[in-house]
Amino acid sequence: MTARLIDGKAFAATVRGRLAERVKTFVAKRGFAPGLAVVLVGDDPASQVYVRNKVAQCAEVGVRSLEHRLPATTSEGELLALVAALNADPAVHGILVQLPLPKGIDETKVLAAIAPEKDADGFHVVNAGLLATGGACTVPCTPLGCMMLIEDVLGDVSGAEAVVVGRSNIVGKPMAQLLLRANCTVTIAHSRTRDLPGVCRRADILVAAVGRPEMIRGDWVKPGACVIDVGINRVPRNDGSGKTRLVGDVAFDEAKVVAGAITPVPGGVGPMTIACLLTNTLSLAERS
Ligand code: GUN
Repeated sequence: MTARLIDGKAFAATVRGRLAERVKTFVAKRGFAPGLAVVLVGDDPASQVYVRNKVAQCAEVGVRSLEHRLPATTSEGELLALVAALNADPAVHGILVQLPLPKGIDETKVLAAIAPEKDADGFHVVNAGLLATGGACTVPCTPLGCMMLIEDVLGDVSGAEAVVVGRSNIVGKPMAQLLLRANCTVTIAHSRTRDLPGVCRRADILVAAVGRPEMIRGDWVKPGACVIDVGINRVPRNDGSGKTRLVGDVAFDEAKVVAGAITPVPGGVGPMTIACLLTNTLSLAERS
């Protein structure tokens, strides 16, 4: 069998189109645009690309982005002072501090300093706690995007076996919470899981978020499963060109002949993350 290819790029474009309409309505009613502060510290090349894409897509849907680029030498105190100023700025409805932060800056402390009602990423412990306890909260963008794709493909997932490989605060844990909220039976697997292939083979919904290129092999996939690949890994092309290519955490060519549906990399989960960031920002502005 050949899996249905889940086109995250097209889905994200649809989400942005709907969002642009909602933003127009917001502006007409409130007289100002939703504002997202995007903070980038240092010069991590991948972060630069992510931030550039986030800012460009804000413009596309009518969200005002306020970029703050700080040098790698920025102290934790300076960054905390900026976050405090953004918390107090009424033109800022959402704040995003791009991760990872340079060594010497405590990420947990910075994320905790963002006002929960301006937390566009949904990383604040208050939002994480509300997600875990079933309250209204801002949901982290990547898992939210994954959930939208899963529900688009499968509809009601109640009772399905879901396995999330990876236990990060950004993806794995909130992904598991969303699947649980949708009444799946959820397993969080990780590097210490015994018989990881066997655990993965149980999954009707398999979400890979480990950050290891092509770690999940085709024979780890249950026939017909919905496979969501969160990984974005840059690997050598191996054609002598010295160039690189992007691969996911799933061995795509092997998995696509077993799965029922699968996200490609690139063009799967990636575009959904930014679409959900913009959605979160508008929701925060609407609540402000
Ligand atoms: N770094 C990698 N992914 C993300 C994300 O979703 N948000 C932020 N702020 N940083 C990231």
